[in-house]
Amino acid sequence: MAKRNVEDIKRESRHLRGGIADELAKGTTHFGEDDIQLLKFHGSYQQDDRDVRKERQKAGEERAFIMMVRSKIPGGRLTPEQYLVHDRCADDFGNGTIRITSRQGFQIHGVLKGDLRSHIRRINESGLTTWGACGDVVRNVMATPVPLDTPVHRDTQTLARELSEAFAAKSRAYSEIWLDGQRVTDEPEEEPLYGEVYLPRKFKIGIAIPPRNDVDILTHDIGLVPHAPDGELDGYTVFVGGGFGMTHGKTETHPALAQPLLYAARGDVVAICRAIITVQRDHGDRENRKRARMKYLIETKGLEWFRGEVLSRAEGAWVSDPKPITWETVEDPLGWHEQGDGRLFLGVWVEDGRIADKGERRWRSAFRAICERFGFPIRLTPNCNILLHDIEPAQRSEVDALLAEHGIPTVDHLTRVRQTAMACVALPTCGLALAESERALPGLLDRIEEVMRDLGLADEPILIRMTGCPNGCARPYNADIAFVGRSPEKYAMFVGGSADGCRLAGLHTHTVTADEIPGAVRALLEEFRANRRGSETFSAWWGRTQTSGAAPHPEQFHVELAARRSVPQGE
Ligand code: HEM
Ligand code: SF4
Repeated sequence: MAKRNVEDIKRESRHLRGGIADELAKGTTHFGEDDIQLLKFHGSYQQDDRDVRKERQKAGEERAFIMMVRSKIPGGRLTPEQYLVHDRCADDFGNGTIRITSRQGFQIHGVLKGDLRSHIRRINESGLTTWGACGDVVRNVMATPVPLDTPVHRDTQTLARELSEAFAAKSRAYSEIWLDGQRVTDEPEEEPLYGEVYLPRKFKIGIAIPPRNDVDILTHDIGLVPHAPDGELDGYTVFVGGGFGMTHGKTETHPALAQPLLYAARGDVVAICRAIITVQRDHGDRENRKRARMKYLIETKGLEWFRGEVLSRAEGAWVSDPKPITWETVEDPLGWHEQGDGRLFLGVWVEDGRIADKGERRWRSAFRAICERFGFPIRLTPNCNILLHDIEPAQRSEVDALLAEHGIPTVDHLTRVRQTAMACVALPTCGLALAESERALPGLLDRIEEVMRDLGLADEPILIRMTGCPNGCARPYNADIAFVGRSPEKYAMFVGGSADGCRLAGLHTHTVTADEIPGAVRALLEEFRANRRGSETFSAWWGRTQTSGAAPHPEQFHVELAARRSVPQGE
């Protein structure tokens, strides 16, 4: 049966109810096509274990269906109790691991359909939700997780929650289906912001504080940056139109970085964001989902048109020109830091964001013990690490000892490349993965580190990211070097993003096999070593010596660097 148009499924879903409740009542292992689309709005993707797909098919068995459930955690902020609820769910319903997502959420993989309601209930009882973690709505609102005790840092977290509440879908479908089971049919139900068909596509909002671009602000539909002259918060510069998904070979699709739109007073930020969302709601492409993100609307209509639409919908808001902003790094503050109130915070590196007990490195046991013994509050970072905070200086050595006991490496035992590298989930759970990513990156980094040691570049800061397909969930397109899956063992190699997240990379080599990657990185780093000036970083060297090619985007993502270079300038 042909897949139905997602717009039709949404429109006919009675505010995202569809047949989910009826399907849950049946003892089947999986949902039908329409409900799979609707389930995303409730925070769950239907998947299957791809490691066993082929053999089950051969044996004439159905796929091994499993659900991924994503918790929405605005600003990545969670209590130790909420952490422990996820920890227990991972055993009771999931595959025994918790995945920190690159948008400050948690995912539990491997949940069976029959356990879905119990799992979602527990998450809600802990004060969090999965509602709107996926789907065509405003998803988890990100904010810098750095727990410094300043008015600006506190406000970004407050704003993340305000936005999250303001833009949550109002349909009662979620509580009916998962929580109280009551279907209230006689009261009219409104979806004042989203209407009957919700947004054309997912919508992402993030907030970062300069100079640390940990949230990768320019990859969001809306990026917000506070302005605080003399430490007093005044307002936010608003960026619009970032987004990374693309499809190999389809030049009408490409990544884009957000552009500055305006500066808004703090009191008007929610209204401005609402206005932006409604412009996308009313004008975004609902015919072609591949062109439905707001970046394409802005590209098609122009930023000036977009600004005019926004201002006409936000009458009375006080706005002015965007403020100048300087970014330095996308990195997390790993290791120990002062918080500014006499206490400390600690950034703990988590390999690929996967909280698991892996041989001698036992992240899951360590974090469970920390929550039970110390009860520190937690922040999830956009680079898939964990910050523990509100730590008294006297507790420091005990925390260090506990982490060491569990084999968790400290920052001084990790190269800069290892500290910052990031991979998306990909196989075996992601239905869209074309190649390995999370499972491949650690081994690949071993080989890349070897190359770097060999070249005397062991501790150079080079940002490496990897994804299993071009959707780009680990934000590959602004990394120094990225590998994006094309087919099993084969990757497109992108080069030329920057350490501060403000420059897009371009396609460097159409296809490299997994085995060829260390050699390809060596060739590039040899060029860097031979031509860098002084202690210039890889990012700076690339920016000084290369342009992204004569042809403007979107060719940058689809045509190899060598071919772009061969096009004469000005043509
Ligand atoms: C058209 C584009 C995209 C599609 C269809 C898509 C689809 C998916 C799917 C199916 C998963 C589940 C994988 C699993 O857990 O097994 C996933 C994970 C995720 N995606 Fe995307 N994605 C897209 C683009 C993006 C982009 C551009 C970002 C952020 C920059 C993003 C952020 C995430 C995050 C945070 C996760 C959770 C796991 C992780 O951290 O890697 N996605 N996506
Ligand atoms: S980038 Fe592709 S393979 Fe990786 S998680 Fe996203 S959709 Fe799946």
